[in-house]
Amino acid sequence: MLVSAKEMLIKARDGKYAIGHFNINNLEWAKAVLLTAKENNSPVILGVSEGAGKYMGGYKTIVGMVKGLIEELNIDVPVAIHLDHGSYDGALKTIEAGFSSVMFDGSHYAIEENIEKTKEIIRIAGERGISVEAEVGSIGGEEDGVIGAGEVADPAECKRIADLGVDMLAAGIGNIHGKYPANWKGLDFEALAAIKEVTVNVPLVLHGGTGIPEDMIKKAISLGVAKINVNTECQLAFAAATRKYIEAGKDLESKGFDPRKLLAPGFEAIKATVKEKMELFGSVNKA
Ligand code: 13P
Repeated sequence: MLVSAKEMLIKARDGKYAIGHFNINNLEWAKAVLLTAKENNSPVILGVSEGAGKYMGGYKTIVGMVKGLIEELNIDVPVAIHLDHGSYDGALKTIEAGFSSVMFDGSHYAIEENIEKTKEIIRIAGERGISVEAEVGSIGGEEDGVIGAGEVADPAECKRIADLGVDMLAAGIGNIHGKYPANWKGLDFEALAAIKEVTVNVPLVLHGGTGIPEDMIKKAISLGVAKINVNTECQLAFAAATRKYIEAGKDLESKGFDPRKLLAPGFEAIKATVKEKMELFGSVNKA
């Protein structure tokens, strides 16, 4: 069932586990994540970036696809369709298109502007029962070959945004999108604990879930993280499985070129990755 992320995150926060947010790219991705959630009786968040939204033919296309899959595959666990790192306009468009959850990422604005815009999105989304994620302190990552260290959020700024009534808060604690460099210093747990202390009950979000060691994931959950975003890891698993199929020459055998066969190993690899994460995050049987 399509729901806002609010309730599943409150339960996760109280139960000391995290809900996986898995970015989707196409039908195979959406179907793989939804079926894995059903098989593991886990709530799930489907993340859609603005770029992925454009790629898939627009936000309404995605809402139609996900709603159709939920109904036809009888996905009886809570599912949220969530805009990932949305701009102000992107948040408005996805609210209009029927997303059940949005992230407004105002972390690149000065704090006052981030507050004003986040407040407005909370008001508009709130009228429709749509959950809102905000961000303070940018999340690092690779851009044009330059790897930026994740910025660590200021707890006082986190409190100001949390107090606006956001349903979840992404705060930079040294996390990075994509693969972590060999010299990565790890998550800043002191910062996380300080942020948790002042934001009290707001479920915290950990972006850049790919490649964070298991013990750090568990510690982050114990310190208040209730949503973990994973994107690159599913892409790597999909690409490796597809490569293996093609390198083995399977696309050249019989009807191996049929997309239903060609994309099957990648599809199964996404499912295996999502299952592994759900087990690690502790969301299995929490639907
Ligand atoms: P990764 O690609 O590092 O898993 O990060 C995903 C993410 O944070 C999406 O918002």
